[in-house]
Amino acid sequence: MYLSERVKKVSPSATLSLNARVKELLRKGEEVVNLTTGEPDFPTPETIKQAGIKAIQENFTGYTPPPGIPELREAVREKFLKENGLNYAVEEIMVTCGAKDALFLLFQSILNTGDEVIIFSPYWVSYPEQVKLAGGNPVIIPTGTEHIPELDQFKKYITPRTRAVILNSPCNPSGKVFPPELIEKITEVCIEKDIYLVSDEIYEEIIFKGKPFSPAALSPAAKKITLTINGVSKTYAMTGWRIGYVGGHKEVIQAMSKVQSQSVSCASSISQRAALAALKSGKEEISRMVAIFQERKEFVENRLDKLSVFTPSPIEGTFYAFPRINYQGMSSEEFSFYLLDKAKVAVVPGKPFGKEGYIRLSFATSLDNLQKAFLRIEKVL
Ligand SMILES: Cc1ncc(COP(=O)(O)O)c(C=O)c1O
Repeated sequence: MYLSERVKKVSPSATLSLNARVKELLRKGEEVVNLTTGEPDFPTPETIKQAGIKAIQENFTGYTPPPGIPELREAVREKFLKENGLNYAVEEIMVTCGAKDALFLLFQSILNTGDEVIIFSPYWVSYPEQVKLAGGNPVIIPTGTEHIPELDQFKKYITPRTRAVILNSPCNPSGKVFPPELIEKITEVCIEKDIYLVSDEIYEEIIFKGKPFSPAALSPAAKKITLTINGVSKTYAMTGWRIGYVGGHKEVIQAMSKVQSQSVSCASSISQRAALAALKSGKEEISRMVAIFQERKEFVENRLDKLSVFTPSPIEGTFYAFPRINYQGMSSEEFSFYLLDKAKVAVVPGKPFGKEGYIRLSFATSLDNLQKAFLRIEKVL
């Protein structure tokens, strides 16, 4: 079949073959412990669900303006101001179908063919593919064993074609929170070179060490070049509702709205009402969920520490561990298949995140499951 060159360049999900093996094992009646999950295992809090139900009952079921309903944009404005020290106007904010859509719209809006976007590895799998879909070239900068970007290296990779750099702190998959001083220095370079800074802050609440840091709050110049990406998926256990949001320069937001209006039109009206309830709901539910993640994180760190196969590194945020592996010379993919076949535990290899020699284990699952997974892993290794 005739397919576009653009789409041919995009890699399919690298975990596809692993997922196929998981399904095969499940079909055979095997019980697999799944540590690949990228979403909280909690239900959406009750008040938020009720807001969605109420929206349906009130027939709030039509299209909304492409950048979102005014009440939600206003709630996002208040959130940015109160929690991140960001003084965005409502016109500098838009609501999207998840943070993923915000990133997609952004790259469609700021990239021309051949423009470069700097991404530090390990990275979230969708960044390079979304850049490619917009005709851009992802430029990957490796990091050391602590997975923290290095300023001098960043400077070396900048070319006249560099249009943007992506920072994701807390970071999926490394679980690292980048030092504020580093983010500040990277921001200064971006201002000097007139490069967009894409700050993906989706895990800002799931943080165990340090504080979230929004580079756009540094100065008016920083705010001008930064796109602050966030959403309710991870914070409020709302992944399926598909609501994200972004703050940025009015002209970029207008361009993104234009793409939104000609593609998916708008985020779901019902979900927007639910997200509004989420942003107004206070911090109690978040604290409860984060406390549970914290307990699991300590459990996982402890157990990883006991196995010489793994070299773990402290988990500072997110719900992922990203230990280095050293087992019979296996690659991360071979090791992941080995764990799946021998221990019936599913993890994600580091390779699709741009970092070979590591695996990602998600602790967005119960302590009982984690206990079971580690007993099996310990036995097999
Ligand atoms: C780093 C990062 N950014 C963005 C997203 C997208 O989140 P959403 O569900 O809001 O589209 C994810 C989801 O896994 C993520 O890990």
